[in-house]
Amino acid sequence: MVEPVVRVTHASGSYPVHVAPGLLGALGALAAEHLEGRRLIVITDRTVGRAVAHGLEAPTLVVGPGEASKSRARWGALTDRLLDLGYGRDAGIIALGGGVIGDLAGFVAATYLRGVPWLSVPTSLLAMVDASVGGKTGVNTSHGKNLVGAFHPPVAVLADPLALKTLHPAHLGAGLVEALKHGVVADAKYFEWIEAENQGLLARDPALLTRLIARSVEIKAAVVTEDEREAGRRAILNAGHTVGHAIERVTDYEILHGDAVAIGLVTEARLAHRLGLAERGLAPSIRQALERVGRPTTLRSEWADDALLDAMAHDKKIRGEQLRFSLPKQIGVMAGDRSNWTVSASRELVKEVLASARTTATLY
Ligand SMILES: NC(=O)c1ccc[n+]([C@@H]2O[C@H](COP(=O)([O-])OP(=O)(O)OC[C@H]3O[C@@H](n4cnc5c(N)ncnc54)[C@H](O)[C@@H]3O)[C@@H](O)[C@H]2O)c1
Ligand SMILES: [Zn+2]
Repeated sequence: MVEPVVRVTHASGSYPVHVAPGLLGALGALAAEHLEGRRLIVITDRTVGRAVAHGLEAPTLVVGPGEASKSRARWGALTDRLLDLGYGRDAGIIALGGGVIGDLAGFVAATYLRGVPWLSVPTSLLAMVDASVGGKTGVNTSHGKNLVGAFHPPVAVLADPLALKTLHPAHLGAGLVEALKHGVVADAKYFEWIEAENQGLLARDPALLTRLIARSVEIKAAVVTEDEREAGRRAILNAGHTVGHAIERVTDYEILHGDAVAIGLVTEARLAHRLGLAERGLAPSIRQALERVGRPTTLRSEWADDALLDAMAHDKKIRGEQLRFSLPKQIGVMAGDRSNWTVSASRELVKEVLASARTTATLY
């Protein structure tokens, strides 16, 4: 097997994440290896099914592209289809697609006959750098995203940077935002490297993307694993996400997750300055790196402060009147200690910061 390989450990075992250009071409042999002796079935979406060529011949179930497919209705229909086709406990599911397919097909695998193994083949950069680690699967409900699901890690993840050739530029950018976030929360050198290599990354240079995916997977895996000992450190992965999720809510999820997180990272860095936690120049550095990869960084005027604040109060991290955030002190170093990795701020203070984040003029 081609390097690099990162091993992700979890409570009940571990699985490898393989990152290498060309893996998809060998998918037939790799699937037979990782799901040995199993009756295979591929779950994918229509866009990926058309765009991404692979060397695997197996029955394929296709859903529509996009978040709407991450539903109980789709989960039920896929499950019924597997039952109709007579799949038994020897089934092996291959999830070929972005984060939507990983979550959906992973949840089908988690629940089918009380659980069958699945192989994760992420084809979006977000799915490669983020969703491939952690073992979370699930679907959305009308009450919110990811409210029904299961922890069911795949047997392995195969990430082929060549698959990213056909990905929409905005989706490539979304993955780069999460990668920059990994730099912000844990690795200043990595952050600087992404910024320096932005042109090559945006041009989808396979060698650069291989390095990026492997390093992001390493960082996320280390944080998630450490969390079992160091309570709550996992919260640092939410950097940019308290504001980001609020933006997604007020735009009714019209904005791309990565763009909401990009604006969230800069806004939350401003909050870190306002709280006296951040070292000089932090917010401008984050903004510059995000702009170099073509992502937005300022709040739009049509998003009202109160709507954003109400949406933030809905977020899981709320405790009483205070809002809670995972904030950086400097690139690569988050505020917090062994017992608490979130920082609280009053609604009034956050409101002030939101007002300042509507302009690029007064960055610290
Ligand atoms: N399980 C986790 O830990 C975890 C972590 C992060 C995100 N997620 C979930 O992931 C989802 C977002 O992931 P996403 O951005 O990959 O969404 P997605 O799966 O909808 O993919 C984005 C779009 O790109 C298309 N696409 C994917 N790969 C392509 C390729 N190689 N070529 C051309 N088009 C391609 C898809 O058809 C889709 O239209 C959300 O539902 C989110 O909740 C899960
Ligand atoms: Zn995210």
